[in-house]
Amino acid sequence: MNTPERYTITSALPYTNGPIHIGHLAGVYIPADIYARYLRITGNDVAFICGSDEHGAAIPMRAKKEGVSPQVIIDKYHFMIKKSFEDFGITFDNYSRTSAPIHHKTASEFFKELYQNDKFVEETSAQLYDSEAEQFLADRFVIGTCPKCSFEEAYGDQCENCGTSLNATDLINPKSTISGAKPVLKETKHWYLPLDQYEDFLKEWILVGHKKDWKTNVYGQIKSWIDDGLRPRAVTRDLDWGIPVPLDHAEGKVLYVWFDAPIGYISSTKEWAEREGKDWEPYWKDQHTKLVHFIGKDNIVFHCIIFPSMLKAEGSYILPENVPANEFLNLEGNKLSTSKNWAVWLHEYLEDFPGQQDVLRYVLTANAPETKDNDFTWKDFQDRNNNELVGNFGNFINRVVVLTHKYYQGIVPEPAELSEVDQKTLAELRAYPAVISSSIEKYRFREASQELLNVSRLGNKYLADEEPWKLIKTDPERIQTVMYIALQIAAAVAVLSEPFLPFTSEKLKDILNLSDRPAASLRTDLVKLTWNDIEKEQALLKSGYQIEKGSLLFSKIEDLDIQKQLDKLAATKKANEVATKEIIPQKETISFEDFTKLDIRIGTIMEAEKMPKAKRLMVLKVDTGVNVRTIVSGIAEHFSAEEIIGKQVTVLINLAPRKLRGVESEGMILMTEDIEGKLVFLNPDQIEVNPGVTVN
Ligand code: 2FM
Ligand code: ZN
Repeated sequence: MNTPERYTITSALPYTNGPIHIGHLAGVYIPADIYARYLRITGNDVAFICGSDEHGAAIPMRAKKEGVSPQVIIDKYHFMIKKSFEDFGITFDNYSRTSAPIHHKTASEFFKELYQNDKFVEETSAQLYDSEAEQFLADRFVIGTCPKCSFEEAYGDQCENCGTSLNATDLINPKSTISGAKPVLKETKHWYLPLDQYEDFLKEWILVGHKKDWKTNVYGQIKSWIDDGLRPRAVTRDLDWGIPVPLDHAEGKVLYVWFDAPIGYISSTKEWAEREGKDWEPYWKDQHTKLVHFIGKDNIVFHCIIFPSMLKAEGSYILPENVPANEFLNLEGNKLSTSKNWAVWLHEYLEDFPGQQDVLRYVLTANAPETKDNDFTWKDFQDRNNNELVGNFGNFINRVVVLTHKYYQGIVPEPAELSEVDQKTLAELRAYPAVISSSIEKYRFREASQELLNVSRLGNKYLADEEPWKLIKTDPERIQTVMYIALQIAAAVAVLSEPFLPFTSEKLKDILNLSDRPAASLRTDLVKLTWNDIEKEQALLKSGYQIEKGSLLFSKIEDLDIQKQLDKLAATKKANEVATKEIIPQKETISFEDFTKLDIRIGTIMEAEKMPKAKRLMVLKVDTGVNVRTIVSGIAEHFSAEEIIGKQVTVLINLAPRKLRGVESEGMILMTEDIEGKLVFLNPDQIEVNPGVTVN
């Protein structure tokens, strides 16, 4: 393993306009956490930094919709998001927020520094303006057709369909998202970062310098932007939500959220350093520090072009060593969406699967959207849990623990001479730290997670081949060796799984009495086991040590649990369909006299029979109070004959009779559809009345 180094690891600051879901976790925070944990375990100096991004345009929008102040929204979600990260074991060294005074100060000073050194271009130009809302429109406040890919709902700063970075005035047919109005052009002054002047630097630094080591999806996007030609980018906005532009005569103007947010990484580092009594500057200014940004693909332009240009303009900062952006995760075939509630929210997951954070961490890693968009399905979640975590990992540990207690009262046995198979198995085991490290260092976390599972697979195969349960009676000495080796594999699994499955690793270390938490272990000779120790030819668990019984690490997920999640999604889908369903326009006005012509009564269904060869039709005999009459109704796909006999329903009784498939129908049953699209009678509560009573 390499010599220790200093790392600043950042992960995208989430917007506080909603809770976080599996897409966030899979795309950004789990890979970043695995990386940070791995680097710490292997002895590096790590600052793992994050915080809430609280100046996004969606925040005041959501506040307006909910009739509260933006502060209420950011407080609610900041704390909720922070808790979700803690619950899922994301080990940020600091989680700050961009509303913090230290951030306002840092971002303002950064802006002033660039301003004073003439790094901005000041320009008055015509910008989109909503005369109804009396507001300039940029970013999410305006949508229109993307000039590059013709996507009709591109935002004023970026097209989410093709990823192109846009200026609001580039949009074709722009429309205000505040009032729906067509914007007009109005002059306003802003400060621009002349990205065109940074083209040569970016080409040299990324296109030449990082062609080989950056992910191809990241490199490809950057190249296409640079090839298209970079243009000056406004770093201020006419808004009342954000960090005020720290200049005289700039009232009503704030810093562009994408100018202040990445500076949030710096201010969060400062906050951490102050708390820990450290110096923040080496983490951002020492050329030997490795800066790595974990983000989703929609953030590539900001982290690879705009922020580095800002850092370059300032001059004293380091640039990222890598930006291992992930693609997107979908859910059951559809794009995850906060506004459409199409998500698995972390706080809801924990309500349904308490204590099973590692299962989600594992599935999202094993199926991470590293090189292409991927789909999360509940079926895959269940299969991976039941086959890989329960069937492979959990099964191996359980066998080792149970057999060690059964044969040796939980004491690690003394091995005899090692056979060829034993030596080969141990050699294979000792190779795993390097194998897993190599995948992690290349940001291939999927691959790394599968290698981890190969370690327990090695253990399962070893036990299956050596069959201690068969030989314990006839060759107890051999079985001492077998169990000793199996225990070494179990200890390696405990240590190697920490970055991926931290809760399980801790539980397993407790079982093996390997925990380095004070008071968690009975052992007094504790030395924290590292990945290096696995590589060495020495015991991880020495003969004579006592291990505990513990409980099962994973449990089977049943079909019913999965069905519950699928039902939840089906209900969301339905609700979204209803919400987007077009409302039929109101019909022409009728007079009161017209209305009184309708004779509507409550009737009782006396008989019901499906009409032969007609899928939808049912022939009913209805007691209308006036008489018992035949009514043909299109309800056969929604009800069985038996379930509606005796029901009281609303009937239009003076509709002119007409023949349906040869049967004369003398009236009409009035119905509507429920939220799921199922027909319901108008009298859903079945309030009992005398047949014939009028409805008016
Ligand atoms: O896309 C997002 O969710 C942004 N809030 C990410 C910001 S990352 C950073 F630059 F702050
Ligand atoms: Zn586009």
